[in-house]
Amino acid sequence: MKVIDEPAALRAVLDEARRLGHDVGFVPTMGALHGGHRSLVRRAVAECDRVVVSLFVNPLQFGPGEDFESYPRDLAADLAQAEEAGADLVFAPSTRTMYPEGPLTTVSVRYLSDALEGRSRPGHFDGVATVVAKLFAIVGPCLAYFGEKDYQQLLIVSRLVHDLSFPVTVVPCPTIREPDGLALSSRNAYLSPDDRKAAPIFYWSLLAGKRAIEENGVTDPAQVSAVMQGAAGREGRARLDYAQVARPHDLCVPQVITSEVRLMIAGHVGRTRLIDNLVASPPDKEGAP
Ligand code: PAF
Repeated sequence: MKVIDEPAALRAVLDEARRLGHDVGFVPTMGALHGGHRSLVRRAVAECDRVVVSLFVNPLQFGPGEDFESYPRDLAADLAQAEEAGADLVFAPSTRTMYPEGPLTTVSVRYLSDALEGRSRPGHFDGVATVVAKLFAIVGPCLAYFGEKDYQQLLIVSRLVHDLSFPVTVVPCPTIREPDGLALSSRNAYLSPDDRKAAPIFYWSLLAGKRAIEENGVTDPAQVSAVMQGAAGREGRARLDYAQVARPHDLCVPQVITSEVRLMIAGHVGRTRLIDNLVASPPDKEGAP
């Protein structure tokens, strides 16, 4: 596995691979790799000839007072995991390489960036969209693998590709969970042992919302949110930020739940902010074809 830190060098290697007719798979990450990332890399390896993983803690997507400084960084461990999962290349640029002057050009995907995480973390998705656009420009034509755990990010990146005509196919990949349901996330490393025990509460709240829709036939989004809030409220260590029903394509709250929705949840357990989501589909109406 080759490690590259200069955009021009990465582009040269990938251009040559494409010239030889090889498909390029790309897994963008901020490092602190875990089983979720490894599953993205393995999928890319199964579907592409050459796979590149980027490791870059992007300062633009962290707000004041967030965890940019303390975000876990362990290059040696990340390289070992990327290699074990089968990556051919790792792109690990420095902040100075990525933003030598601080960018005057930024990318913003309107509306999709405003709701949910965007409301709680203003500017976060502009930072994500800007770095992802830059990474796509460096990597060039590829299949890019993103986890559904960050569902809002996945929608934003898909729209960015569509609107700006990047020669990229976004491949959504399922959330990977611990046996107790906790979605894998680099930030799980912050959880104290007691917080770790409490952390699956957001997944269990999503399951309660899903049951309300799928088994009890609840069609009022506010009622489903109340079910999720009630479930989250039973864990004293959890502080809920939002528990919302969203239309899968635009994240707006539907008037009535008549088709598939995404249940979106976020909050803190102790000092750790966690997000998660789940699909729910209302039961088929009797007599429907
Ligand atoms: O999901 C992440 O790890 C980051 O938001 C991404 C897509 C690598 C951009 O920094």
